[in-house]
Amino acid sequence: MKFELLSKDPNSKARAGKITTDHGVIETPIFMPVGTIATVKGVHQRELKEEINPDIILGNTYHLYLRPGTGILRKAGGLHKFMNWDRNILTDSGGYQVYSLSANRKINEQGVKFKSHIDGSTHLFTPESAVDIQREIGADIIMAFDECTPYPCEYSYAKRSMHMTHRWLDRCMTHMKKTSPLYGHDQTLFPIVQGSTYKDLRKQSAEYIANVGAEGNAIGGLSVGEPDDEMYAMTEVVTDILPEDKPRYLMGVGTPSNLLENIALGVDMFDCVMPTRNARNGMLFTSEGTINIKNKKWEDDFSTLDPAGYTWVDTEYTKAYVKHLFSVKELLGKQIATIHNLGFYLWLVREARRQIQAGTFRAWKDVMVKKLSVRL
Ligand code: GUN
Repeated sequence: MKFELLSKDPNSKARAGKITTDHGVIETPIFMPVGTIATVKGVHQRELKEEINPDIILGNTYHLYLRPGTGILRKAGGLHKFMNWDRNILTDSGGYQVYSLSANRKINEQGVKFKSHIDGSTHLFTPESAVDIQREIGADIIMAFDECTPYPCEYSYAKRSMHMTHRWLDRCMTHMKKTSPLYGHDQTLFPIVQGSTYKDLRKQSAEYIANVGAEGNAIGGLSVGEPDDEMYAMTEVVTDILPEDKPRYLMGVGTPSNLLENIALGVDMFDCVMPTRNARNGMLFTSEGTINIKNKKWEDDFSTLDPAGYTWVDTEYTKAYVKHLFSVKELLGKQIATIHNLGFYLWLVREARRQIQAGTFRAWKDVMVKKLSVRL
C-alpha cells in the first residue's frame, strides 16, 4: 500500500491524499459505505459502483466469520470474488462487533470468548485468529484486534484496556509477519488508537501506535455516546501525534458534520452505518437539510428528492412517491433512500477534497456545517 499526501488546507489540518493498493486508488478524504455481511444493504453492486462510486467499502469480520463462514469465503476465492466487488475492501477486526452484538462475552488477556447473536454458539476471538480470519476474507486493509471502551468509562478501566489493546496489537503484528495473503493481492494491517476520552491516555496510545510504523493508523473508541466536542478534542490530540505521511482512519464516524469537523482535524478515512441505516428508517440527508420522509408533510410534495442530484434517484423520484413507499412498507423506498444517502456522503467527501485542493476548505466547511444542521 502506498499513501501520497497531495495537498494541505492552509487554514485547518485537512489534507487531500491518494492511497494505492492492489485493488486500485482510494482518493482521500473518503467515506467507506458499510457492507457488513458481504452486501451494502439494499444496493446492487452495479449501482454502488456506477452511481455511488466509492473507491472502498467495509466488511465485518464478526459477521462474515459467523455467516457465510471462512470455509465458503475461501472456496469463493475471497470476499472480493464472493460479492463481485473488484475495488478495495477494509474489514473491521471483530473486536467492536463482539462488544456491541454478542451475548455473554468474556474478555481476558488471551482474547474474547462470546456467544453468537444468531444461534448462541460459543466462539473465541484472539488477536491471532482475527488476523487469520481477515486473511481468509481477503480485505486489502485489515484492522488490529482491540477493545473499544464504552462511554463513559472509568479512567482505571480505560488505561488497563488501552494497554491490553497495545499488547494485542503486538500479537497481531507478529502474526501478520508469520502469515501471508491467500489470494495474490497484498494486505496491510492498521493499528487502532484507544484511550477513551482521556487526553493523556489518547496521547500515550497515539505515541505507541505511531511507533509501530504501520502503513496507516486508525482511531477507535469514539462516537460511542460522547458529546461531539469531546470527540473532536480526542481526534485533535491523536492527529497531532500520528505520522503525517500515513492515512488516518476514524472508525464508526459519523454525521455529515462529524465528517467535516474531523477532516478539518486531519482525518482521511471514515465509515458509519448512519447513511444506510438511517435511510432504511426514512431519514434523508439532502443539500437543503435533513428530512424524515415518513412525515405527513411530504405526502403531496411533488418536488424531486434532492435538486442537487447526487445520484439518479434524486431527480427521478418525488418526495411524495418515496413517502408513499415508506407508508406502505415497500422495499423500493429503503433502496431509493439508501442510494440517495450514500450518494450524498460520497459527494460530501469528494467536495471536501476539492475544497482542500483549492485551499478553500475551512470557509466552505463552516458554511456547510451550518447548512447541515437544518431539519426540514
Ligand atoms: N468501530 C467503531 N469504533 C471502533 C473501535 O474502537 N474498534 C473497532 N475495532 N471498530 C470500531
